[in-house]
Amino acid sequence: MSASAAPVIAIDGPSASGKGAVAQRVARRLHFHYLDSGALYRLVGLAARLAQVNIDDERRVTTLAAALDAHFDDEDIYLDRQLVTDAIRSEEAGADASAVATLPGVRQALLLRQRAFRAAPGLVADGRDMGSVVFPDAAVKIYLTADAEERATRRYKQLIGKGMNASMAAIFQDIQARDDRDSRRAIAPLEKCSDAMFLDTTNLSIDDAVEQVVARYATATQAP
Ligand code: C5P
Repeated sequence: MSASAAPVIAIDGPSASGKGAVAQRVARRLHFHYLDSGALYRLVGLAARLAQVNIDDERRVTTLAAALDAHFDDEDIYLDRQLVTDAIRSEEAGADASAVATLPGVRQALLLRQRAFRAAPGLVADGRDMGSVVFPDAAVKIYLTADAEERATRRYKQLIGKGMNASMAAIFQDIQARDDRDSRRAIAPLEKCSDAMFLDTTNLSIDDAVEQVVARYATATQAP
């Protein structure tokens, strides 16, 4: 199978919807590769901060994105050979990521890098525009979401679990601001593709969501 023909399961949705956890588990179940596209935007945000480049400066941020020295090793993420797995998970890093993600040059610079993750036996790609822009020919497209309040609670528990400081009210506000910016931006906005399956995880466990995605994939790839 050529890499470009390797099947893709695209999982898009708003922040803290659980799509990262679901996507990772689906990838493990199917022995597929995994692309956390949000991590790339977070890395660009961090690279800009470290280089003291204003995150609105499209030309300079695009240059950083094009030259991004990023390395993924299972759950560990490196920027310029420095371990930044936790550093890119802060709320601040999420806000920076969402700001640089509005820049067309940055999205273009990351496009081929994301497509390069596509390899046999398959790829589970998680993000905002996986089904619409990066892998429009994905075998399965999922739009995974949950109530904003439920998502804020999940994010809060995640941050506290990592020993980080967190305020529920600030997280809720941040999630709403990020949803707003991600859905309204002119380029590759967060939206459900018409051919995506809607999966609401407000009252669904991660395991149940994984089952639904795997079942959808099995149906989609079944021989007629
Ligand atoms: O998924 P995560 O919360 O890590 O993404 C961080 C930010 O990166 C999002 O708020 C969004 O603005 C941006 N992003 C994007 N396109 C993707 C993945 C993430 O614009 N495919």
